[in-house]
Amino acid sequence: KKGLPLSGKKVLITAGPTQEAIDPVRFLGNRSTGTMGFELAKRAANLGANVILVSGPTHLDIEHNGIELIRVTSAQDMYEACHEHYANTDIAICAAAVADYRPKIIASEKVKKQEGDMKIELERTPDILMSLGEAKQNQFLVGFALETQNELENAKGKLKRKHLDGIVLNSLKDDGAGFGGSTNKITFIDKNSEIKTFDLKTKPEVASDIWKEIISRIHA
Ligand code: C5P
Repeated sequence: KKGLPLSGKKVLITAGPTQEAIDPVRFLGNRSTGTMGFELAKRAANLGANVILVSGPTHLDIEHNGIELIRVTSAQDMYEACHEHYANTDIAICAAAVADYRPKIIASEKVKKQEGDMKIELERTPDILMSLGEAKQNQFLVGFALETQNELENAKGKLKRKHLDGIVLNSLKDDGAGFGGSTNKITFIDKNSEIKTFDLKTKPEVASDIWKEIISRIHA
């Protein structure tokens, strides 16, 4: 493994959706498949890294000597798993689609249907990426942004607010980009506002592009 660009590096990656329980059988979730995070993990391991992949519920699996897969369910679980390993991390990428809200109370029994409407009160989940930015020592920290308007400005704002070294902007305007699909179209922005826009590519190719951007900056 010596001589590879990520040899000896410890990498932490979040992937997939989170599930926020309503009761023992129901949850709030989203349509993330985890593909982008899993491809980033695979690429990093092939480049020589030791990877901890913290993933929410997904059908994906991965077998690789360089990857330890930690399966979690909720945003809180993901937060705890990330912080457990963060001190030992050289590079962290948050690619998970973490729920922003969770039910304030998890019913201990299955909620019965009732006449009329029903309300579920929600509270904010922890922002994992933000918390990693705040806890940052020497880690190179990368987040994702999925914006629908003022994309570049919003992504730059997020990069600054969350103390990131780079942010990957997924454009929702571009066909084939983002959630669920097998392709993605990204723009990489670093903390010096250097911007690089890529063509629509398959997710393995996108993962390779993202790692090139990161590697050129950690060795600089
Ligand atoms: O602020 P916003 O949710 O748009 O930021 C998206 C980025 O933050 C992604 O990298 C996502 O993985 C991360 N995130 C997180 N924890 C949350 C919400 C978002 O790590 N609770």
